[in-house]
Amino acid sequence: MVVHSSALRIATFSSLVSLCFCTAPARAEGGAGGTNSGGSGGTATADTAGTSAGGAAGSGVSTGSGGGGGVTAAGGTSSSAGAGGAAPTKLVTNGTFDSVVAPWWSYAANAADSPSDIALAATDGQLCGTMMAGGKNVWDVIIGLSDVPLAANQYYHVSFSVLADAPRTIKFKTGLGVAPYTDYFIESIPITATAQTIDYTYLNLRTDPTAQLQFQIGKTPGKVCLDNIVFEPVPVPTTPTYKTSAASGHPLKDYKVLVKMGTAVDTPIFLSNPLHNAIVAGEFSMITPANSMKMNLIHPTQETFDFTDTDALFGWAQTNGLEFRGHPLIWHTQVPDWLTTLTKGTIDRDQMIAIMYAHIDGLMGHYKGKLPYWDVVNEAIDLGGPGGTFRSTIWHDIIGDDFMDLAFTHARAADPAAKLFYNDYNSEQKGDGKGDKVFEIIKAMKARGVPIDGVGLQGHFYVEPTGDSSSGYPNMQAIRDNMARYAEINVDVHITESDFRIGKPLDEAKQQLQNKFYAELLQVCIDAPNCSHFTVWGLSDLDSWVPSTFQDYDYAHLFDSHLAAKPGYTAMSQVFAKYNPADGSLLPVSATGGSGSGGASSGGAGTVSSASSGSSGGCSLATRTSNSAPWLLTAFAMVGILWSRRRSSSTRS
Ligand code: XIL
Repeated sequence: MVVHSSALRIATFSSLVSLCFCTAPARAEGGAGGTNSGGSGGTATADTAGTSAGGAAGSGVSTGSGGGGGVTAAGGTSSSAGAGGAAPTKLVTNGTFDSVVAPWWSYAANAADSPSDIALAATDGQLCGTMMAGGKNVWDVIIGLSDVPLAANQYYHVSFSVLADAPRTIKFKTGLGVAPYTDYFIESIPITATAQTIDYTYLNLRTDPTAQLQFQIGKTPGKVCLDNIVFEPVPVPTTPTYKTSAASGHPLKDYKVLVKMGTAVDTPIFLSNPLHNAIVAGEFSMITPANSMKMNLIHPTQETFDFTDTDALFGWAQTNGLEFRGHPLIWHTQVPDWLTTLTKGTIDRDQMIAIMYAHIDGLMGHYKGKLPYWDVVNEAIDLGGPGGTFRSTIWHDIIGDDFMDLAFTHARAADPAAKLFYNDYNSEQKGDGKGDKVFEIIKAMKARGVPIDGVGLQGHFYVEPTGDSSSGYPNMQAIRDNMARYAEINVDVHITESDFRIGKPLDEAKQQLQNKFYAELLQVCIDAPNCSHFTVWGLSDLDSWVPSTFQDYDYAHLFDSHLAAKPGYTAMSQVFAKYNPADGSLLPVSATGGSGSGGASSGGAGTVSSASSGSSGGCSLATRTSNSAPWLLTAFAMVGILWSRRRSSSTRS
């Protein structure tokens, strides 16, 4: 990684300024940003963004040795951006906004190029955009700047103060200003009528002499004011080191002989938060791209693939010894505009199959031999769908019932070494309508000789705002039974997207349910011979997909919004701590670190009803250990880690 000299920094700044001031407001493109990744939900202030080593402060993460590697393989260190050194170079100062709007522009895509319903004004040293009428797009550019030159593999510091007429969420991005509106870096931020400073340092991956810096607003009319905008190239941020907080001393990944732990990683946080990356590398064995492999982002025009973001993530995973899961190949959501347009026209089955094959070939071909697992088809089965089998999607409805057979067969040819998975939610339990339907379909595919190796049980569960968990807490025995019947037909299962979202407000009882959930589901996977991987859908509440997807829910993850381990993490860690990480055998009781180890302050293992003896749930650990069940039950009782079972039935199939 190049560390820019101050001379170059000034030169770059000069060119920025000169470009800005001699360029007419270019076509104010970009209204269609809603198709891009977004949604990562990361909120960021200077306190929580963790743009550099500073992010580690107060997060309970020690700064000892070890460490997880930086964002890039180079991993060089240098002085952190703006940390006590010279005042940062400001692209635009508040003084600029005393009377001048240009070169800033605004745009609400009303089918015409010129915005007609946003007024941009420089008043009181601020630049304010007022959207009078709602735009047509989900996200419109309320304030934008064109011709910002960006260099690949260069860190940029972006900072600004912002306020609005009322609480609202805006997005800011750097990116391509023309279709397909690629986001180089995008963040959603909640803002209020009180000015706050937003501050990120992110790794830019693409060379673009004419990138745009945009502030986007949703359809709702409103006013957003900016000031003190800083955008500058900076040296590589310091890489924080990470030491697990597990009482056992062992991060989750140390138990990979039992189960490999994975997490989803989204691009914005990966590019901007070294502490996040250090924790992921320190605790996990596998990552799944949360968005960057989705068709809208990786196949943005029919003729082109854009592997930039995924390649960066994959390269980092390789550097840090992490497996990388391909996700997803064929899905009906987050598809590119070009495909949506085609499917609204007269496209026929053969043309759609050709598109499906081209997507599989392009994507699997690029990563051939490098990704051990692929979610070939995602979320395609629905009891409410046509014939009570398939969900009505562009793939199913245009190709027909055999689209899954065709996709898997083609995927096997594209990368014979990869294990091919079907992935879905609400499919975890035997005896549940959709769980049974998914099983029937997979069993029939196996019987037809379709090449399918596994089923991803997503594992999204919840407790309602009222605290009621009756429909959102899984029946662990039914999951055990489901895994067992897949084993009988020689199909592997992975937990692929687990999280346990909590209906607001958070309280102790809900937290304890979450702890119990993570611990129990992990135990189920450990006990099942055909369950080798357990992935959580995102590391932390800082960067969660939950609040923007399920408005009344949050707090779903193992780490909090400051990237400190939560009781759910401790609960999982305590499950693993019963085992010897070297060979997966059960440890003698005295070696498990003492009872209640971990003392998850809010419960951890604590929801445990150690009284309920024998129902240790019929967990058969025989496949993983050489210890006998009676010994195990005694041990469990002694260390007080018998998880209470929600259902009393407990015969394991
Ligand atoms: C989610 C991402 O996490 C969000 O950032 C995005 O806005 C929507 O998609 N099932 C899946 C995942 O298979 O790909 C989804 O990921 C969550 C549900």
